[in-house]
Amino acid sequence: MTEPMVRWFETLPSTQDEAHRLAVEGVSHGTAVAARVQTAGRGTRGRDWVSPEGGLWMSVVCRPLYGTAIEVVGLRVGLALADQLDTLVRPPARIGLKWPNDLLLGRGKVGGVLSEARWQGEALAWLVVGIGINLRNDVPANSVPEVTRLLEAGVTTLAEDLAEPMAATVAAAAAVASPLTQLEMEIFHSRDWLRGRSLALPEEGVAEGITTGGRLRVRRSDGQVSEVLGTVRLAALGA
Ligand code: BTN
Repeated sequence: MTEPMVRWFETLPSTQDEAHRLAVEGVSHGTAVAARVQTAGRGTRGRDWVSPEGGLWMSVVCRPLYGTAIEVVGLRVGLALADQLDTLVRPPARIGLKWPNDLLLGRGKVGGVLSEARWQGEALAWLVVGIGINLRNDVPANSVPEVTRLLEAGVTTLAEDLAEPMAATVAAAAAVASPLTQLEMEIFHSRDWLRGRSLALPEEGVAEGITTGGRLRVRRSDGQVSEVLGTVRLAALGA
């Protein structure tokens, strides 16, 4: 009998940890873990990820046969998920992307991607790609930056129904080994929420898109463009 792609749990501290545990056991590419509730969900840069009932909290074990483009995997997964979610949201709503790993609905963060690699020496042993999507779960009001959920754009699909197709999307995106393609760059451009905004971090200047290697381009006041990594902070709002 074939294993189901998504293994569901009522509660886990973090689906990331369970996915890494399964990876140690040797599960195959695309095996996913989802939890109805996470008690210690984590986001990027050590932040907490609040994960009550009603959202999609899932981690996918990825063992890309021909390698992966580790520096763009979060962006590539975000691009693929945005395409998928756009088929669900009520027009004219459209999913935006905020470099490097946020999915947006309007100004509000509706989801995020967390990619964690494990290495054997120089070689990638596996990747766990976690996605958190706010569907109908409670989200904090008045948080900065804003947080929202897909229900506000008319999406009533349950996490249980989204999990399989989204796990397949993540597994496919993580198995691409090239830098971002021209098409991906164009689609990112059309969804790029930061473009044209003034930044305090990771470099002072105006956001001007990304590179094919996944860096943020920032036009500095001296006219030069820096290609940078790091945490984003908007100049005026501190978001
Ligand atoms: C971010 O935007 O900071 C990334 C958030 C990633 C959250 C997901 S929820 C499922 C998986 N398990 C976790 O503990 N985190 C990721």
